[in-house]
Amino acid sequence: MNTHTTLLVTLRGIVGDAHVLTEGDLTAYEQDWRKRERGKALAVVRPSTTAEVAAVVKACAATGVSIVPQGGNTGMVVGSIPDASGQQVVLSLQRLAQIRQLDAANLTVTVESGCILQTLQEACEKEGFLFPLSLAAEGSCTIGGNLSTNAGGTQVVRYGNTRELCLGLEVVTAQGEIWNGLTGLRKDNTGYDLRHLFIGAEGTLGIITAATLRIYPLPATQLTAFAAVPSLEAAVALLGLAHKHLNAGLTGFEVMGAFALGLVRKHFPQQNVPFQTGPDVPPYCVVLENSDHESESHARGQFERLLEAALEQGCVLDAVVAENLAQARALWHIRESIPLAQAQEGLNIKHDISIAVSRIPAFVQETDALLEQHFRGARLVNYGHLGDGNLHYNVQAPVGTDAEAFLRDQEGPINALVYDVVDRYNGSISAEHGIGSLKRDKLEHHKSPVALNAMRAIKLALDPHNLLNPGRVLKL
Ligand code: FAD
Ligand code: MLT
Ligand code: ZN
Repeated sequence: MNTHTTLLVTLRGIVGDAHVLTEGDLTAYEQDWRKRERGKALAVVRPSTTAEVAAVVKACAATGVSIVPQGGNTGMVVGSIPDASGQQVVLSLQRLAQIRQLDAANLTVTVESGCILQTLQEACEKEGFLFPLSLAAEGSCTIGGNLSTNAGGTQVVRYGNTRELCLGLEVVTAQGEIWNGLTGLRKDNTGYDLRHLFIGAEGTLGIITAATLRIYPLPATQLTAFAAVPSLEAAVALLGLAHKHLNAGLTGFEVMGAFALGLVRKHFPQQNVPFQTGPDVPPYCVVLENSDHESESHARGQFERLLEAALEQGCVLDAVVAENLAQARALWHIRESIPLAQAQEGLNIKHDISIAVSRIPAFVQETDALLEQHFRGARLVNYGHLGDGNLHYNVQAPVGTDAEAFLRDQEGPINALVYDVVDRYNGSISAEHGIGSLKRDKLEHHKSPVALNAMRAIKLALDPHNLLNPGRVLKL
């Protein structure tokens, strides 16, 4: 038997025949969500306990076979699928999905990494708690994937990124050892805080098998408004007013360009997108959310005062406030449908950038002008988490052109143009999606050599044989 055959026998012994997949349609594991790339796995292995994960890692390490950890495979940067060699094992965490314990007094929940985000949200809500991480992929992305990409989403303005929600981790190391750091402590200064190495590491330093996460009491009410604004400057001014009027009640602040909303109307005509018909379609709209621990009438009063002030100052043209939960969900659904509408429109170029909020209008004005000058006809799809200074400043191929050819020929020069402006504005080329393989080479140009060397030293210390998600994040 050759080494791979022996390994497959060992893996079947660990997780059972049914959970080592080598045949049939493996598209869900081998193709990324954006359909940018398709790989080929030696096998997809689906352990259901931490001990099984450790045994799988040990078996792979013993034969020098590299591992690609995978959760829901919703990542945006081609980080969770195998390469084309047919020699990598995809380690799917989907069966490791128990919610181990909700500790009401400690305000924490301990959950296994394959748990779907929405499942965790719903389980917490049933017990009267909020797990605030929220993103459009929540029906299929997993907690392990969220932690490994340090996902952001739509509530960061109040609750922070996934990193801020995490108090402890359980991790299987590259050597197949289990580190149990699920203490649930809020204070622990006993040396280096290892959890922060694994969060955002995109599976290159260890396999996250469980986490202890912060939860919050459910707010008494959540109100949503959808506002038309005359410019991005006005949206930033509205954000300032929202901070002032709502304070910690401001839990969401998302901006959407008219073209992005137009794609939602085009591909999901059943959705009723406010302010997008008639002669005066506003250039931008904003969705904002007020979570209140007092009462609905208190929240409405705050919202009214905020919107009155905003109308008076001219930073809002018009606004609707949801009357009930169904309307609020429908307004959020419009925002969350933008990436899906973009995917329907065709292959596209994504720039997940962050810039200081105050500088975003100038950044967009300058970059829009440069793109229009050098890439005539390219369609700019601009939306994102303005409350966090994070824009999805995306580009769709010109109407009538072959999107695949456009990406092949123009993605490099378009990225170079956009990231050059991002650098000049002291921004980041990846605010929340990570690096994966799609942005790995870009990182070399946009991160300081000192930081890159420190990252390489960490990688080589924890995974000296480069077995965990090789080729992702870093060039070694
Ligand atoms: P995967 O895609 O399976 O994996 C992502 C990375 O993590 C890979 O590098 C993988 O190797 C690694 N990984 C996965 N599980 C583990 C583990 N247990 N241990 C170690 N490494 C692991 N992202 C945002 O930040 N904000 C958004 O608002 C947002 N919206 C989205 C909307 C849509 C419609 C879609 C499709 C995606 C969106 N994303 C967003 C991107 C994506 O959903 C998130 O990055 C999510 O956190 C990925 O989770 P996943 O389980 O699908 O991970
Ligand atoms: C979003 O905010 O909708 C996501 O990060 C997805 C995307 O950028 O496509
Ligand atoms: Zn996003």
